[in-house]
Amino acid sequence: MNEVKIREVRRLLERAQQVTALTGAGVSAESGLPTFRGGGLWDGFLAEELSSMSGFRRNPRRVWDWYRERRQALKHARPNPGHLALAQLECRLPAFHLATQNVDRLHQAAGSRQVLELHGNIWDVRCVDCRQTFDRAYVDLPPEPRCPECGGWLRPAVVWFGEELPEGAIEQACEWTVQSQVFLVIGTSGVVYPAAGLADVARRCGAAVVEINLEPAQSQQTGDIFLQGKAGEILPALVP
Ligand code: OAD
Repeated sequence: MNEVKIREVRRLLERAQQVTALTGAGVSAESGLPTFRGGGLWDGFLAEELSSMSGFRRNPRRVWDWYRERRQALKHARPNPGHLALAQLECRLPAFHLATQNVDRLHQAAGSRQVLELHGNIWDVRCVDCRQTFDRAYVDLPPEPRCPECGGWLRPAVVWFGEELPEGAIEQACEWTVQSQVFLVIGTSGVVYPAAGLADVARRCGAAVVEINLEPAQSQQTGDIFLQGKAGEILPALVP
C-alpha cells in the first residue's frame, strides 16, 4: 500500500519548486529520544510543572534537573536515517525548508541548514530578567544557574506552555508554507498550536499534504497522503 503512495510522493517532490516540512518528536524517536505523548518522557512528572514559567518559579532546581537529564540523553543521541534523508532533500530540491518543534538540534547535526526552531532549543539558556540568551558554553551549569550579566535566573531557551513562539518564527513558517507545493508533516501528533495549524494553511493554498507517522494522526484530512510507518524508514524511501 505504501509502495504506491511512496512513488506518488516521489513524483510530487520531483516536480515541486518549493517544499516545507514540519517535524515533531517522532522524527527523533529512532535516535532513542522519547516522544512527548508516547508515555516516556514525562512519566512521573507533570508536564505543566516542568515546562512552564510558574513551575520554574516554584521549583527551578527540579526543572533544571529534568533538563540536565534530557541534555545528558542527547549527548549520546545521533541523527537517524530520517534526519539524514531530510538533509538530502534540502540539497536536491530548488527550495526546501524545515520547521521543527524539536529542541534537540538533531536536524542540524544531520546537515540540514534551513531549520526553523519553532520551540527553541535545549542547549541555549536565557535570563528570565534581562532576557539575554547564552549558548551551549553554559550547558554544564550549577544546579540553579544565574545570569552572568545581571544575576537573574537562567532558564532553558525553549518555549514553555502558555508562551509565545520566538519572534517571527510562525510568520516565517507560514511564508514558506504558502509558497510550497508539497507540505510534509512528520512524526508529530499535530495537537500543539500554532505549529499544528500550518498543515491547514498548506491545504488552503493548494499544496499536497503528506503525513508520515507511526499512527494515524489527528491532523489527517481527506485528500492528504498518509504514509504509515517509521520516519527513519519512509523518508529514505522518498529520497532514494
Ligand atoms: P508528540 O509526542 O505529541 O507526538 C509524536 C508523534 O510521533 C506521534 O504522533 C507518534 O505517533 C509519532 N511517532 C512516534 N514514533 C515515530 C516514528 N518512528 N516515525 C514517525 N512517527 C512517529 O510530539 P510532538 O508532536 O512533537 O512543545 O509534540 C509537539 C509539542 O508538544 C512539543 O514540541 C512540545 C509538546 O508540548 C513544547 O515543549 C512547547
